[in-house]
Order: sequence, then structure tokens, then C-alpha cells
Amino acid sequence: MRLLENYPMQDITTFHAKVFAKYYTVFSSASFLKQILTSPELKGLPFIILGGGSNVLFTGDFNGVIIRNAIEGIEVVSQDENTIFIKASAGEKWHDVVLYCVNRNYGGIENLSLIPGTVGAGPIQNIGAYGVELKDVLHEVEAMNVHTFEIHKFSNAECKFGYRESIFKKEEKGNYIILSVTFKLTKNPKVNVSYGSLSKELESLGITNPTIKDVSNTVIKIRSSKLPDPDKIGNAGSFFKNPVIPNEQFDKIKELHPSIAYFPATPGHTKLAAGWLIEQCGWKGKRIGDAGVHKDQALVLVNYADATGKEIFDLSAKIIASVKEKFGVELEREVNIF
Ligand code: EPU
Repeated sequence: MRLLENYPMQDITTFHAKVFAKYYTVFSSASFLKQILTSPELKGLPFIILGGGSNVLFTGDFNGVIIRNAIEGIEVVSQDENTIFIKASAGEKWHDVVLYCVNRNYGGIENLSLIPGTVGAGPIQNIGAYGVELKDVLHEVEAMNVHTFEIHKFSNAECKFGYRESIFKKEEKGNYIILSVTFKLTKNPKVNVSYGSLSKELESLGITNPTIKDVSNTVIKIRSSKLPDPDKIGNAGSFFKNPVIPNEQFDKIKELHPSIAYFPATPGHTKLAAGWLIEQCGWKGKRIGDAGVHKDQALVLVNYADATGKEIFDLSAKIIASVKEKFGVELEREVNIF
């Protein structure tokens, strides 16, 4: 095991905030991971598993071990005429797996193109975009129990997926490390273009019968035009979740703000576009020092250069307070804060 000390995390998290970890190490197989977890040098120290570092914000130095999951590999597990099961290791880049599938015409994850991060992070928050969530195509998750080192296979139902939620964020938080994800995809793809901005963009491109490659390319186009590239400007995608509120509360807000942006949610509930709420509070494009709210998508907080994690966190607290004051709605952070 190669253990690096006082490790700068600026380049391994997409917010690129200057923070240090006491130790840093990498694993590329399950047995290697077990060695790390049982190593006497690291005993008792807190640890965090990091994939692409694209959904985390460190508000200060981390006095523990950052363990980066770098298990690689994509393989076909089984297939028949219509269905194919693809297993991707947790350390694979998410978008590479999407392209692997799209290029072979395996349908199901094309709407999730260009999401930053690794495969292993996907099930934790049930990544979703443009009308599709990971739960729609996930067959199984393989994960190591950090206490017993046993490898458990979670079925889709066992993952208890919800909007940006799963068992790995709740009951089993911190208990499992994801090793691989198996997807159930179709060899006879039917595209899903139900999401408003996706269907509009396809229409404006004159594409009437889109293939999954068209959908993937269009999602890439929309994302690239609206969301800042983390290699150029630090960010972690949506900083907040879109709040889901009871319909009675929604009706009252809509009466006062008829142009409010919203989506259908679970029965009796409405999902509000947090970006719209934040924009209405005047935050879009605002900057405090080097921390800011993106000019094209108010749901994304950015680090222009040297913002600390604490400054970004403090900005998020100000936004939560103003949305609460104006709309009576409490925003919840989507990014994992350490
Ligand atoms: N909107 C505004 N102002 C803004 C941003 C958005 O008025 O500054 C309005 C838009 O006009 C639109 C609505 O809000 O009517 C929705 O906007 P958008 O399509 O950009 O999606 P979103 O709800 O802001 C969610 C996900 C994104 C995902 C997109 C597309 C969450 C927290 N975010 O954003 O996911 O890409 O939908 O499906 O659910 C991520 O999780 O990191 C992420 C980027």
C-alpha cells in the first residue's frame, strides 16, 4: 500500500478548493481495498472513499485517509436478443461507460451522458438527468462491507432508490464501498425525450426520429452550454436538490408566483426547480470573493479560483436562508459536505 501524507486535494475534487488530507491512497481491486481497510497504520482513522471527487465539498483539512477507488473494467455479463447486462467497475469514469453503451447501441443510459464522476458514485445519489435516473437501468450493485469485508450484491429494490437518494446515503451510510454496478440495457432502444429542454433542443436541431446517439449528443450539447466545465471552473454540478413539497404548499406558492418552474413528483407532491427559486432571490451570477453562483444555472455554485470550501459553504447557507425567507421552502444540499 502506498500511503501519501499531507495530500493536497485541490486536483482530486472538482471544486478545486485548497484542502489537505492527512493520508491518501488508491486501490484497484477488492482485495487491495481489504488490505487498506485492515492495515494497522490506518486503524481507527476516519476514511472517505473518493471516485471522481465531483460531488463533495471539504470545508477544511481532512484528518483521516482519502481512499480513491480506481477499480477498472467494463464487461458484458449476459445477453439475449433484446437485453444485455453490462457490468462496470466502480472506478470507471461514468461518461466512458455511457459512451461504451451508446457506441454499441445498448440503450438506457444515453440521457445520463456527460455526468461527471465515476460509476461507483452513481448509485449513492441515484444520479439522474433529462428524464432518466440510474434506478431505471440499474440491475445490481456489488459492494464491500467495511466491517466484515464481505461482498454483498444489492438488487435494484434493495438499493431503495429515491430522488437523489439510496440506502447508501441512509441506513447503510458508511457501511459499504461500491465495487461495481451492473446495468440492464436494451438492444432495441426506445429513446426517452420527455424532458422539456431535451425535446426542444432535438426539435430545433431538426431531429425527428432520434437515435440514442442523437440523444447522447444533444444532452452533451445542453450540458456543455449550461453547466460549467469543472476542469475550467471549480464546481460540483447541482449544489442543492430540487425540493419536493406537498401540493397544498405548492398551490399557495404558485398563486403568488405563477411563473414558478416545477416538475411532477411522487403523488401529492410537486418538485420545484431550485435553480428558479435561487434566481428569483437574485443570486444568479452573484460572486462573493472567489465563490459564486453560476451565471447560466443558479443551482450550481462555483469556485472562480481560490475560494475555500468554507467560503463556498457559507455562500450556500446564505442562499438557503434567502430562499426560505422568500418562498418558505428549505433547500437541501445535494453535494456531500465534509
Ligand atoms: N431554472 C431557472 N433558473 C436557473 C436554473 C434553472 O429558472 O438558474 C429553471 C429552468 O428554466 C427550467 C427548470 O429550472 O425551467 C429546470 O432547469 P434544468 O433543466 O436546468 O434542470 P434542474 O432542475 O436545474 C436537474 C438536475 C441536474 C440535471 C438537470 C436535467 C437536480 C438537483 N439537478 O437540474 O443534475 O442535469 O435536472 O435533468 O436534480 C446534478 O445533479 O449535478 C445535475 C446537474
